[in-house]
Amino acid sequence: MSVTVETGDTVAAALSGTRRMLQAAGIDSAALDARLLVAAALGITVETVIAWPERSLTPDAGVRLAALMRRRVAREPMAYILGRREFWSLDLVVTPATLTPRPDSETLVAAALDELPDRHAPLSILDFGTGTGCLLLALLSELPAATGTGVDIDRAALDVARQNAFRLGLTGRTGFMQGEWGLSLSESFDVIVSNPPYIATGDLAAPAPELRFEPRLALDGGADGLSAYRALIPDAARLLRPDGLLVLEIGAGQAVPVQALLAASGLTPLRVSRDLAGVERCVLARARAYPQEVT
Ligand SMILES: C[S@@+](CC[C@H](N)C(=O)[O-])C[C@H]1O[C@@H](n2cnc3c(N)ncnc32)[C@H](O)[C@@H]1O
Repeated sequence: MSVTVETGDTVAAALSGTRRMLQAAGIDSAALDARLLVAAALGITVETVIAWPERSLTPDAGVRLAALMRRRVAREPMAYILGRREFWSLDLVVTPATLTPRPDSETLVAAALDELPDRHAPLSILDFGTGTGCLLLALLSELPAATGTGVDIDRAALDVARQNAFRLGLTGRTGFMQGEWGLSLSESFDVIVSNPPYIATGDLAAPAPELRFEPRLALDGGADGLSAYRALIPDAARLLRPDGLLVLEIGAGQAVPVQALLAASGLTPLRVSRDLAGVERCVLARARAYPQEVT
């Protein structure tokens, strides 16, 4: 599909041309994406795009818009094109080294906060597979006395998480480290959260167009989608303080097997929380209130 923008186009004409092009490429969010791309090409806000439709596009902006459109028509996610994604009302930097934070993952943040009635408690939080840091940073933004550690196996993702913590003024309350789940950790935590890779390898053979751009490490959950849970749940059980809280994002249909893994590691499953579409999206569990006596 050839992607062109006419020199001398107004913003209104560029918007409708972009929207039509994205619709033809099968993109459901064509109208919204068109506004964002035109705003990015012009270096102005979406609000200004809407308020000033008669403004004309400079030749430079036209060239930039055509380049951005080409990427979107190839189904590159908007977050990679813009380098940004909003999550829990936080403006986060996103790069191809990180999963694009999903609105569904806000379910995990809300479910964790529901279990933490004292928002001013000095909690320590651990985030396995932190990616952009979205889960950890969202929790820290709501829990002003909490501190947090984000672990990821991927160094480039950790750079993004550090950058996000800095931009949000949370560097002083965060630490990020490269590692394999909890393998190199020994301190204990009040809260552990994770959105691990949970798509079965077979389901990635023909991924949805946007998924092709996202890091395999962030998606591939092994043959049955549960490999990461098998690896990280025993680490979480070891690292949680007595009565500590574990919240794990899950894929559709994974609640029962993940709860079985939690119970097998001595954790007590609490409940399953659903996302806005009604899909079971995360499981919650607690460590025992007092460690078991070793006999
Ligand atoms: C589904 S992404 C989640 C990213 C982010 N927490 C979010 O919710 O958007 C999973 C993350 O786990 C990381 N990861 C994969 N295998 C890992 C491992 N063995 N140890 C630590 N992190 C791992 C990936 O690099 C990726 O950043």
